Amino acid sequence: MGTGILVNLELHDALSGSRHSAYANSAAYAKDAWTDKTCRSRYDGRAVYCDIRAMRTAARSLGILVDDRLCLASSREPVMPKLRYSVAASLDGFIAGPNGEFDWIVSDPDIDFAAMYASYGGLVMGRRSYEVFVATGGAVGPALPTYVYSRSLPAGARDGVMFVQDAVAHLRALKEAPGDKPLWLWGGGNLFRHCAQAGLVDGVDVAVIPVLLGEGLPLAPACPRLSLQLRSHRLYPKSGIMFLEYDVRLRPVP
Ligand SMILES: NC(=O)c1ccc[n+]([C@@H]2O[C@H](COP(=O)([O-])OP(=O)(O)OC[C@H]3O[C@@H](n4cnc5c(N)ncnc54)[C@H](OP(=O)(O)O)[C@@H]3O)[C@@H](O)[C@H]2O)c1
Repeated sequence: MGTGILVNLELHDALSGSRHSAYANSAAYAKDAWTDKTCRSRYDGRAVYCDIRAMRTAARSLGILVDDRLCLASSREPVMPKLRYSVAASLDGFIAGPNGEFDWIVSDPDIDFAAMYASYGGLVMGRRSYEVFVATGGAVGPALPTYVYSRSLPAGARDGVMFVQDAVAHLRALKEAPGDKPLWLWGGGNLFRHCAQAGLVDGVDVAVIPVLLGEGLPLAPACPRLSLQLRSHRLYPKSGIMFLEYDVRLRPVP
């Protein structure tokens, strides 16, 4: 187990137009006080990396590949699914009221939930969120492989979902299997915290609902610090919902 932060490097192959990403443990470069920005500029100032081998060699020549924690993904290797925590939250950062209320989550005719579901490769959720998921009628899009994490419920497939007892180990395995669509961490904050602590979360997407709740279940309870980069934003003027998508840039090493 390391103690640094993971740096997400994005390298662009100008010849093929493909994008490569690399994760490196910043603990190894602590003496250089690297940030993701300086990593990028140091990379960008060098050659074009057209394949995984050239990228590894180039990284080595820059003194970046100092241990086995640098892992690279390119179009020549299987694409691994990302894990995105996507929820609705009040403006003051709650995903449910103090008694689990969600009546404040207004809908908007311009939000295409079916398309949203179809953009994911699977749903993952904690046991408490699953109870709400079932109570509210389940998915409003195409049926996706669904995994529910619970240490109190028996493991196994039933009712169209797979119950799993160790979320972190299972998600790590899911993320290592090939898959081009992200996994939707549907909720809740408790499961998100375990995933964030394990360094498994790649994105945080929040539909900010125009309401102040004052109290409730926080979006990210006792979460480790994650540095985020805005990926996209969209305002839904009919409801006042602002949808914000962030990629995780820096995260703790588990
Ligand atoms: N606003 C939104 O978009 C949104 C979306 C989803 C949910 N929600 C709300 O969020 C609330 C539920 O969130 P929550 O944070 O209280 O609970 P949660 O994360 O949904 O579920 C927590 C439960 O998941 C299991 N779990 C968590 N980490 C685990 C791990 N590492 N391994 C195995 N099992 C694990 C445990 O189940 P056991 O206790 O069975 O062991 C734990 O009690 C609900 O009120 C729901 O309405 C809101």
